[in-house]
Amino acid sequence: MAKIKVDLDRRIGELDRRVFGGFIEHLGRCIYGGIFDEGSPLSDERGYREDVLEALRPLRMPILRWPGGNFVSGYHWTDGIGPREKRPRRMELAWHAEESNRFGTDEFMEYCRLLGTEPYLCVNMGTGTMDEAAAWVEYCNGTGDTYWANLRRAYGHEGPYSVKYWGLGNEMYGPWQIGALSAEDYVKKAREFAKVMKWTDPEIELVGCGLNGWSEWDRVVIEGLAPFVDYHSVHLYTGSDDHWSNVLAPHQAERALKTSQTLIDRARYEQGIEHPIHIAYDEWNVWFRERSEEGVLEERYNLSDALAVATYLNIFARYCNTVRIANLAQMVNVIAPIFTSKDGLFLQTIYHPLRLYAENLREVVLDAHVDCETHDLEGETSPWPHRVADLGPFDVLDVAATCDAAGTEIVLAVVNRDPENGVSATVQLADAGFGGHATSYEVVGESPKATNSFKDQEVGVSERGFEASGKSFEYTFPACSVTVLRVPVIQP
Ligand code: AHR
Repeated sequence: MAKIKVDLDRRIGELDRRVFGGFIEHLGRCIYGGIFDEGSPLSDERGYREDVLEALRPLRMPILRWPGGNFVSGYHWTDGIGPREKRPRRMELAWHAEESNRFGTDEFMEYCRLLGTEPYLCVNMGTGTMDEAAAWVEYCNGTGDTYWANLRRAYGHEGPYSVKYWGLGNEMYGPWQIGALSAEDYVKKAREFAKVMKWTDPEIELVGCGLNGWSEWDRVVIEGLAPFVDYHSVHLYTGSDDHWSNVLAPHQAERALKTSQTLIDRARYEQGIEHPIHIAYDEWNVWFRERSEEGVLEERYNLSDALAVATYLNIFARYCNTVRIANLAQMVNVIAPIFTSKDGLFLQTIYHPLRLYAENLREVVLDAHVDCETHDLEGETSPWPHRVADLGPFDVLDVAATCDAAGTEIVLAVVNRDPENGVSATVQLADAGFGGHATSYEVVGESPKATNSFKDQEVGVSERGFEASGKSFEYTFPACSVTVLRVPVIQP
């Protein structure tokens, strides 16, 4: 019998709801044919797909990153404002496409308003200039009688958008990036961008461009940008056809968060920096099947992938003091929980943990003690390039525990990575008792390969109630599942 032990006094910190953030990029059918589909009977008169909007709402994303991604490094935001029919149609070099510019800054801001989410803009540090970046801040946030603020007004948007979050370029380290730089050159350039952007609006918060959180690039960038930024970004995509490799690879995010936190602590200490710097995990997901060079970039997810996504979220919860923003890449069609056609949409398997976590996790993260069988990746056949540090052993049950501030309810998120066996566990509570009607939500399917499509929904959520009382209760977590348990607590 496994054991999960929770103590309301062992609080790790507060869960920042911005870790449920999203990301949309001008890539494949994410924007055009995804969230924006002019002329479709499923869209409103402005072009926003209403069915997509309805499907996104339950994910309760507090923050949405745009416009890229690799796309941003060739994107001139001025192409995407003003009358749509006058906007230039451009060659798009990041994804080898054409960009109509019919969805631009004002359309994105309106989308954020409709969705009830905060915009997070990433500026072009590839072909873009610092003048252009500062002008974008002025267009969005300017309140004075100046050119870009007045242009926004002239285009019908009187008040400022007050965009708080701004990214200093995207993946500037990668040879695939338009205008890639060495870490030292990036720091030099990003400092100048940061200065003029903050001077344009001192209220904005800046995100420096990190790599995986543990690389030499991250060290140089954290040290060089610490005085200028509020966040350091990290990107991680994992995935494998081999179930165990797939569900355990997200643990690399733990190394990213541990290492980057140490690098940040060191830089702040050495440089006497008083303002906090947190991690913005602004791209993460399972992604390994489809690359655009080989055709359409539209990843289809299975149950195993849903477990991997839930594991990422558990890690973000456990490292809540380090990671304050996270953006699932991406929201629609490309590598996303929602998949559309011109006639409708279906929810991919990964949608279910995303929704359950956003709806149910509470504001305080607890340090749960887990005692269960473990699994290591030694000998697994996988295309994933394992390093010794990534082999494990890992707990078969991955757990995040949260409660409300008053400690009247515990919400546990438990991923059972065992593909074949349910795991029975005793859930124990120190110094208080469970009391009353509990609810469980299980993301389940027939096998790790179970998938969803327009035709079949093989992976869904099963909900049921149960009574929990006293110091402990037993629960069997089904094979290959994600379970969210909401249990009331009675204080002594
Ligand atoms: O999200 C897809 C791509 O992955 C983004 O454009 C890029 O930043 C990353 O490499």
